[in-house]
Amino acid sequence: MKAISGGLETPGDKSISHRYGMLAALAEGTSELRHFAAAVDCHSTLDCMKSLGADVKVDKETVRITGHGLRGLKASRKALDAGNSGTTMRLLSGILAGQNFESKLTGDESLQKRPMKRIVAPLRQMGAQISAREDNFAPLEIRGGALKAIDYQMPMASAQVKSAVLLAGLFAEGETVVTEPGRTRDHTELALAEFGAPIEKIKRTVKVRGVAQNSGAVLKPISADVPGDLSSAVFFIAAASMLPDSSLLIHNVGLNPTRTAILDVFMQMGASIQMLSLKSEHGEVIGDLSVKSSDLRGGVIEGAQIPEVIDELPMLAALGPYTEEGIEIRDAAELRVKESDRIAALAENLRAMGAKVEERPDGLRVAGRNAGKLKGAEIDSKGDHRIAMAFAIAGLAATGPTTIRGAECAGVSYPTFFEELKRLAER
Ligand code: S3P
Repeated sequence: MKAISGGLETPGDKSISHRYGMLAALAEGTSELRHFAAAVDCHSTLDCMKSLGADVKVDKETVRITGHGLRGLKASRKALDAGNSGTTMRLLSGILAGQNFESKLTGDESLQKRPMKRIVAPLRQMGAQISAREDNFAPLEIRGGALKAIDYQMPMASAQVKSAVLLAGLFAEGETVVTEPGRTRDHTELALAEFGAPIEKIKRTVKVRGVAQNSGAVLKPISADVPGDLSSAVFFIAAASMLPDSSLLIHNVGLNPTRTAILDVFMQMGASIQMLSLKSEHGEVIGDLSVKSSDLRGGVIEGAQIPEVIDELPMLAALGPYTEEGIEIRDAAELRVKESDRIAALAENLRAMGAKVEERPDGLRVAGRNAGKLKGAEIDSKGDHRIAMAFAIAGLAATGPTTIRGAECAGVSYPTFFEELKRLAER
């Protein structure tokens, strides 16, 4: 069994890159976004903004976007393609709802199976005309314009729904108010403030004034370094925690408090993680993380914690067999409508490795170390980046080789994942 040691900087945060990419295209002037996400998903967003008339120049990880103002977008000649990216489709729908032209928005096979009613419903309430396959799935046809502000009590804790409504709110007449039932990532609120939008946050309620109505109002461009993606770092945090004699230093990673619940979960399980050199830039917290191997206890993850760790649950579940008590995940039915049915994909692949798993409608229970050691197996990634990466890590401590089918899907969020894993595991 290898240890994980050395230093790492993860690619730019995916959530922040999407938001900066979209808002830069609505600003007046040129934004410079450094350490922009290498994730294929975020480049889907850039391609869409380009098709809508923004000038987008990509030079490795530096992206320069020139927007032509809040009213500067133009109808795209072709359908906008969000690829595998739910964030692109849901957030962009909010922007398109405010445009005086019609747009068609589509995505890959996986994205066309994911629910869109959650954003279609509030955007219709604001006055957009939207048609969707079976009234819930992409392709979406959005005829926007003349939106009115709404006071929206979100039925679910989703950052994407909150963001879609807030972005549409920029184009609405009046003040749009959104209240979330549980805390979700707040990158949209922070980014809107950075670009100069009139936004206010009181506990779980966010208000944005429609500025596109006022011909004088503008969003101003920004110059920013995108922090490293904590959700990508989590695969290496898991590996370093699990493999004896590991010592890992992760530099410049985003530590926004709405994203760090996963570190609390790890630390409650006994992980050795230290936050160092914290600073704040553009409203986002950034720092370094020092991770050392530890004996993980395992535990139950449920309730309000779920939306805050939603993207990290595949890695946690796949760690279950290496913990003392195992891992139990409850209240997470949402995992079934991510890039794949993640509950089913986790159960199937963990069982293939010999783990004892109880699958439930809203989660799963994975038995701990006592149930026996995992053996290497052939893993079906289901084309889901987080499943591929989670099992690459689980495979490190199993007996015998593990093969991940469709492993290239890791590029959706982390194109250099396997190179980095090789580098850190070989030292
Ligand atoms: C995201 C929000 C989350 C998350 C997704 C990215 C975002 O989805 O799972 O990977 O950038 O807003 P939900 O808002 O649907 O929970």
